Amino acid sequence: MSVFDQFRLTGRRALITGGSRGLGRAMAQALAEAGADLVLIGRTTESLERAKAELETLSCHVEVVTADVSEPETASLVCSEVLKRGNIDILINNVGGRREDIPTAEMPLDAWRRYLDLNLTSAVACTTAVVGPMLERGWGRVVNIASIAGPLIAFKGIQGRHYETAKAALAGYTRAAAADWAARGVTVNAVCPGVFFTEANRRWASERLGWREAVESNIPARRMGEAAEIAPLVLYLCSPASAYMTGAMLVIDGGYTLW
Ligand SMILES: NC(=O)c1ccc[n+]([C@@H]2O[C@H](COP(=O)([O-])OP(=O)(O)OC[C@H]3O[C@@H](n4cnc5c(N)ncnc54)[C@H](OP(=O)(O)O)[C@@H]3O)[C@@H](O)[C@H]2O)c1
Repeated sequence: MSVFDQFRLTGRRALITGGSRGLGRAMAQALAEAGADLVLIGRTTESLERAKAELETLSCHVEVVTADVSEPETASLVCSEVLKRGNIDILINNVGGRREDIPTAEMPLDAWRRYLDLNLTSAVACTTAVVGPMLERGWGRVVNIASIAGPLIAFKGIQGRHYETAKAALAGYTRAAAADWAARGVTVNAVCPGVFFTEANRRWASERLGWREAVESNIPARRMGEAAEIAPLVLYLCSPASAYMTGAMLVIDGGYTLW
């Protein structure tokens, strides 16, 4: 098998939470180009349908599911339903976000729980719902989208430490679950992105004068990442090429964590 053949996903079916926009949409593109069929979950039907129409031009089958996976019961239920319609070989737990800049000393407990559900419990619920048949078949890929914030650093100039806490825990879950399933053909890895210029960050930038410049001055590459730049790394983690990599936390940050 050539090295490029090890990246092919023909015959594989991948479930991507938050696959309609942002980093998840870029990952969906890469997996479709590699030959996978896709199931995309998001809250907004309109953006899911747009992604489906665009991705189907690549000749893959795309199913979309409108659901809010930050509700753990909903996440479990929709993933179980998706599984009834066919095998899931690849799961990308991509949904998450900081969303609120709440000072650490003023964090209300209900917001804390809500953000832990969004960033951590959603990934655990989706994984638990689909991993059983992967283990039975002896092949599976779980990729958790964490962050450099939490596992490696606390972001400067912004609070809302629910985010760092949940992402650090997601990295911990990744490593522990990887150990549990390594001998059974199921790998679990985490990607730790730095700052990417996606919609959410465009919004932060437009609302906070000078924020983009301040962030970029802290990045050795002197720029934020583009969504498409995360896709080759995620494709590697989803493909046969990464069979011997599990429990890894892969940093992609333009050097942000070097300074
Ligand atoms: N962007 C960055 O710079 C950066 C850096 C480090 C880590 N990350 C992590 O990378 C992941 C993706 O980030 P992003 O910036 O691409 O996010 P985004 O722009 O907010 O997009 C997220 C995607 O998730 C869907 N989504 C959001 N909440 C959902 C929910 N509760 N249930 C189901 N679908 C939901 C969105 O569609 P709907 O709105 O229609 O639901 C969209 O498809 C997140 O886990 C984030 O923490 C991002």
